[in-house]
Amino acid sequence: MYDRFNRSIDYLRISVTDRCNLRCRYCMPETGIPLLRHEDILTFDEITGFTKVAVSMGIRKVRLTGGEPLVRKGIVNLVKMIAAIKGINDLSMTTNGTLLKHFAGDLKKAGLHRVNISLDAVNPVRYAYITRGGNINDVLDGIRAAREAGIIPVKINCVVMESKNEEDAQEVAEFCKRNNLEIRYIPQMDLVQGHFSEVVGGTGGNCALCNRLRLTSNGKLRPCLFNNIEFDIRETGYDESVARAVEYKPECGSKNSTGAFFYLGG
Ligand code: 5AD
Ligand code: SF4
Repeated sequence: MYDRFNRSIDYLRISVTDRCNLRCRYCMPETGIPLLRHEDILTFDEITGFTKVAVSMGIRKVRLTGGEPLVRKGIVNLVKMIAAIKGINDLSMTTNGTLLKHFAGDLKKAGLHRVNISLDAVNPVRYAYITRGGNINDVLDGIRAAREAGIIPVKINCVVMESKNEEDAQEVAEFCKRNNLEIRYIPQMDLVQGHFSEVVGGTGGNCALCNRLRLTSNGKLRPCLFNNIEFDIRETGYDESVARAVEYKPECGSKNSTGAFFYLGG
């Protein structure tokens, strides 16, 4: 599928839940967020049905995100259902990694190709501070489990305030080097203010190269993280939503006043 600016749209990011077991300072308020109502959250059949249609229209790459995807009950089953769709050549997940040791083997068997794990600090005290209570050992166990399960490559997402020269980011970089892990630096974004920039080592944040559509956990298809346009897939229909999202994908993002990362999936 090509949009008005001749970008090839072949990547779908699916937020499977708005919930998370961490409270990263740049992402969520300490007290958590107003949770979506259970009946508003897409069922596995809806997610899979929609994805099938999107793939038939040209989507080739699918990533599961959250919130934290591993807190959604039955997530391994969802991976299995999506992996069974013919035409997807890259099926991945973005996770905070803290629960990964419980799931890595089953996710691999279910057909997950690879994972990106969020890691903003390796110093245990700093990690606990940034995530408001996370235990770094859980993430380290998760990284190990993913590799042992053969979910390769494991990539590390590191959110930085300004640049990769910050102490936490440098320590994460050293950790990655020692352990042969690829790292991407994600500049902290502000959706409402419209502050965003390119991901260093990845493809996000560059509007000219943007190939993505995003599905929120309550069924809104969004062509751009920094724009309020969305189509409700239940109301609009699956193929019509995809067609319209591609048609209305803006040339460049500006601001988003109606969503946040835990709804939109980063
Ligand atoms: N800026 C940049 N990335 C963010 N994420 C969440 N909030 C922000 C933000 N304000 C990303 C993190 C995490 C993923 C779930 O969402 O990279 O890895
Ligand atoms: Fe959870 Fe990821 Fe947000 Fe942290 S950044 S609170 S791990 S969804």
